[in-house]
Amino acid sequence: MSSVRSAYTDSLCFYSGHTPLELAETYGTPLYVYNEGVLRERCRDLMKLSGHPGYGVNYSVKANANPAILKIIRDEGLVVDAMSPGELHLDTIAGFPPEKILYISNNNSAEELRNAVKRALLVSVDSLSQLAAFGRLNAGGRVMVRFNPGIGAGHHAKVVTAGKETKFGVTPDRLDEVFALLDKYQLTLAGINQHIGSLFMTPDGYLDAAAVLLDLAERLPAGALNKLEIMDFGGGFGIPYRKYDGEGRLNLVELGARLHALITGWSAKTGYAGRFLVEPGRYIAAECGILLGRVYAVKNNGDKRYVGTDLGFNTLVRPAMYDSFHDVEIYRADSGKTGQETMPQTIVGNICESGDILAKNRLLPIMREGDVLGLLDAGAYGFVMASNYNQRCLPAEVLIRSDGTAQPIRRRETLDDLTRCLL
Ligand code: LLP
Repeated sequence: MSSVRSAYTDSLCFYSGHTPLELAETYGTPLYVYNEGVLRERCRDLMKLSGHPGYGVNYSVKANANPAILKIIRDEGLVVDAMSPGELHLDTIAGFPPEKILYISNNNSAEELRNAVKRALLVSVDSLSQLAAFGRLNAGGRVMVRFNPGIGAGHHAKVVTAGKETKFGVTPDRLDEVFALLDKYQLTLAGINQHIGSLFMTPDGYLDAAAVLLDLAERLPAGALNKLEIMDFGGGFGIPYRKYDGEGRLNLVELGARLHALITGWSAKTGYAGRFLVEPGRYIAAECGILLGRVYAVKNNGDKRYVGTDLGFNTLVRPAMYDSFHDVEIYRADSGKTGQETMPQTIVGNICESGDILAKNRLLPIMREGDVLGLLDAGAYGFVMASNYNQRCLPAEVLIRSDGTAQPIRRRETLDDLTRCLL
C-alpha cells in the first residue's frame, strides 16, 4: 500500500498483512483497530517493573473494557479492577475469577456494594460514609480504603485525582475515624490504595506518593499492618502522544528500579509480606489502538482549512473534552501520484457542535476526500468514552492478532440498537 503519512505504523507493522484502506473498506468507518502484539508488549513492560515477589499489575479496565482485550491482559498475568457492575460483568466474561478483581469505585448504592460483596470481591471504599455503608451490609468482612496522599498529577485538571481539589479518597488526617468505623463494624483493613491522577511522564510524583502510602501504613494502629494484604499505588503511567514530534517515553527502567528499591526496602524494614500493586489503564491500552475514519469533505472557512470526517467526538471525545493531542496518519491508495505539500488543517467530525474538533491547526500533508485517517493512541479512553450523541451508532472494533489475522471483536451498532431500550 502507498500512503501519505504512515511512518509510525509502518515501523511497527501495526496493520500486519492488512492495510488501513482494506480494513476501512471491509469493516466500515469509524473503526477501532487494535494490535495484539503491541498490547502484550505494554503488559510485559509493566510486569517487569519489579521482581519483588509481592509485585503485580492491576489493569484499570476503565481504559478499555472489550473482553477480547481483557483476555489477552489476563493471559499476560495481570489482575484487573472494576468500578461498576458493568466492568465487573465484562471482567467476568473475560475469565477473571473474583480473587483477581478489585472493586475500586466510589459513591456506590447499597445494592452495588452488596453485589460486589456477594461476588466475593475485595472492595475499596473512598469515604467514611461508604465505609459505614459497607460495614452495615458486611460487618465482620474485609475492606480496602482509598487514601488521598496529597500529591496529584495528570494531563488536565479534570483527571487529577489527589491533592487539594478532588472528590476522591480519605485524607490521612482522618485515620482515627477510619479505625473507629472499622472497629464499629468489626471490619479488617485488608488493603490501602490511592490514585494520584492520569498521565505522568516522569517518575518523581508517583514515587513520592507511593512513599506517602507506605508511611501511612506504618502509622496504622498496632497489629493492622500484619493484616494488610494489598498496597495499591494507583495508575497514571503516561504514554507519548506526540509520536511524530519524537516525544520521549516515560523512563520505566528508572521508575522500576526506584519502585523496586522502595518496596523491597520497606518490606524488609516492616516485615510486610503482602502484595504491592500498580494500577495502570492508559499505559496498557492506549498505544495498541488506532481509530480509523474517512474524509468526506474539505473546505476553507475564512483562512482556515477544515477536513470533515466521520470521526466526531461521539467516537473519540478526548480532544473535545481535554484538548488532548492525538497524532494523525493519512492513508491514500494513489499517494505515489500526489505530493507531500503541507498546510495547516483542522480535522473535524460530523457532530453538530463547533467543539467537534479532533485535531486543530495541524501542519499536515493536504488531505482530500476519500482519504482514510488514523488517530493514533486511541486504545485507551477511546471506545469506552464513545457515545450515541446525535443518534450516531457506536463504532466497530477489530483486533489484529499476532498471527496477522484480523478478528472483529465488536460489530458496528445498528439503528435497532439505538431503539433497543425504548418502551
Ligand atoms: N485507578 C483509578 C482509581 C483510576 O481512577 C484510574 C483512572 C486509573 C487507575 C487508571 O489511570 P491511568 O493509568 O489510565 O492514567 N478519561 C481520561 C482519563 C481518566 C482516568 C480516570 N481514572 C483520559 O482520556 O485521559
